[in-house]
Amino acid sequence: MKLLSYYIIIILFGTACSSEKDDYVPIVPENKKLEFTIPANFPNPSYNVSLNPPTEKGFELGKKLFYDGRLSSDGVISCGFCHIQDFAFTHHTHIVSHGVDGALGTRNAQPLHNLAFMKEFTWDGAARHLDLQPIIPITAEVEMNETFSSIIKKLEEKPEYVQLFAAAFENQKINSENILKALSQFMIMMISSNSKYDKIERNEGSVFTDNEAAGFELFKSKCASCHAGTLFTDQSYRNNGLAVDPLYNDIGRNRVTGLAEDMHKFKVPTLRNVELTFPYMHDGRLKTLDDVLNHYSDGVVDSETLEPLFKNQSGTLGIPMTTEEKQQIIAFLKTLTDDNFLNDDRFSEF
Ligand code: HEC
Ligand code: HEC
Repeated sequence: MKLLSYYIIIILFGTACSSEKDDYVPIVPENKKLEFTIPANFPNPSYNVSLNPPTEKGFELGKKLFYDGRLSSDGVISCGFCHIQDFAFTHHTHIVSHGVDGALGTRNAQPLHNLAFMKEFTWDGAARHLDLQPIIPITAEVEMNETFSSIIKKLEEKPEYVQLFAAAFENQKINSENILKALSQFMIMMISSNSKYDKIERNEGSVFTDNEAAGFELFKSKCASCHAGTLFTDQSYRNNGLAVDPLYNDIGRNRVTGLAEDMHKFKVPTLRNVELTFPYMHDGRLKTLDDVLNHYSDGVVDSETLEPLFKNQSGTLGIPMTTEEKQQIIAFLKTLTDDNFLNDDRFSEF
């Protein structure tokens, strides 16, 4: 309706108006709906796509914002600074992420993919909706240290942004709601579903090697109770036996719920593209997949909230595995690497 009245004003006042006023009137480009396709082996999304249907211009705007340092106080730290595509949108080489002026956070940047299928976000589930998640990094002192009113001012000075917002949203406004909606439109399209594992699951002609097949069987019996289904997470919060780090003493899920039973529990992470999302765990303390498997077999530490599954009848802790079994599981995990996604130009900065 608003869009319609905008056009009526243009028609009624026509050229006389624009020649009398020097105000920048955006030429509003045409906008088309983008197809949000659920891969055949995926569940239904948790994100209500019908409330923020991705469009060509909304996606383009979201991508531009994602890679724009204007979203931070120093003009340098964009979302893409910490979320790098080649590493499934994690902060490669950084144990914990660093933001404006090199400020250190306390957590390892999570991969960004298949977010439309996730119910809660961040390692402790502090964000309950994808549209709200970016508020955390944007306003966090150690990340982007910025305010929405300041971002909006910066964007209003750029004609490309004025034009893109006008094209992407019916109310044409540069406001926080539209900034967040555009970021979500970009992020929900980031679907990783073309790994070797997916092609096998969908009977598209690929086959596992013997090692990978053996690893898959082991994975199903030893890991899939938490790293479940095609998303490789049951989206629950668990304590997988990491020793409490005295430096950060990150209490995990307890920070959100305040419940004693949630102390030191973290969201079960997806394992898609895990070959590239090192270093591992919420604080990036483990460097390699070998380290991860060694943690599960020999490094699990007892505590009040340790996953009961990890307390063996024999009195030992963890998941018993031989060296060969660990290598087979790692071979399987590498079949979750999705080169199509990692090289998909739609999501690249340039
Ligand atoms: C300074 C580095 C940094 C910047 C900049 C940053 N992030 Fe993150 N991102 C992280 C870290 C670290 C986490 C994990 C946070 C936690 O668990 O508390 C994360 C988590 C996320 C998640 C949750 C993923 C999941 O699976 O739950 C999303 C979505 C996300 N970031 C999107 C963004 C967007 C959009 C921006 C830009 C507005 C952004 N990030 C900027 C480091 C960063
Ligand atoms: C009881 C649930 C549970 C089981 C069983 C389990 N995990 Fe995990 N896994 C988790 C949780 C929770 C985390 C995150 C812990 C943290 O960071 O504090 C995690 C983290 C990981 C990570 C790090 C991913 C990243 O992005 O940092 C890898 C890799 C991993 N697990 C692989 C495995 C493998 C392989 C097995 C089987 C040998 C397994 N897990 C069994 C719950 C589980």
